Amino acid sequence: MLRQARFWDRVALRYAGESITDLTGYERSLRRVGELLGSGHEVLEIGCGTGATALRLAPGVRRLHATDVSGRMIAIARQRWHAQPMAQLSFEQADASTAAAAPAAYDRVLAFNLLHLLTDLDRGLAAVAATLRPGGLFISKTACVAEMNPLVPHLIVPLMRALGRAPALLCLNESGLVRALAGSGLDVIAIERHGSTRRDIRAFIVARKPG
Ligand SMILES: C[S@@+](CC[C@H](N)C(=O)[O-])C[C@H]1O[C@@H](n2cnc3c(N)ncnc32)[C@H](O)[C@@H]1O
Repeated sequence: MLRQARFWDRVALRYAGESITDLTGYERSLRRVGELLGSGHEVLEIGCGTGATALRLAPGVRRLHATDVSGRMIAIARQRWHAQPMAQLSFEQADASTAAAAPAAYDRVLAFNLLHLLTDLDRGLAAVAATLRPGGLFISKTACVAEMNPLVPHLIVPLMRALGRAPALLCLNESGLVRALAGSGLDVIAIERHGSTRRDIRAFIVARKPG
């Protein structure tokens, strides 16, 4: 995991300055997430990056705890928080794949642009399932790397990785994601695509913990 964290530490500042590639799709996803959040909810966001989405969602919930494996990403998120402080929002450096520090503590767990980056997807999803309360929802948006031109995952990314310019990617497709969620005991209740461009490779998936 150290290698992943080092990569994201290195690119954090540049990532913070990048603009969102499909703003319409992003806003669509935020609206959809907003429909699934309530003012009484305790929410965990994993892989929160520089905290931009957490800052947008926090006003609508009771508590939002946002975590990321990269200390630099979290440092930038905290700077943003200082410019826009909210009592209900907190940030912490943490690996999403480690066992849930707080079992059955959250009503919602959010993961945007994260699952395809985990070194062990099943372990990550097991941690999500453990930290959700029964009946709670896991809301994710994930790049289905298997839908990209095969040259990207099989040639370009490995080359860029060797140069330290890309993270490792899981070559997931939508059905693989659904299978992995089911394997961790989560019931998929919605699969959507929110992109405004012709081909959106990111699957927005909502899954419920039974109970
Ligand atoms: C593509 S960025 C997405 C950030 C943010 N969720 C967004 O949508 O803009 C992926 C983020 O996941 C984080 N990450 C990667 N592996 C992780 C892990 N095992 N646990 C927690 N965060 C992780 C990275 O540090 C990075 O901030």
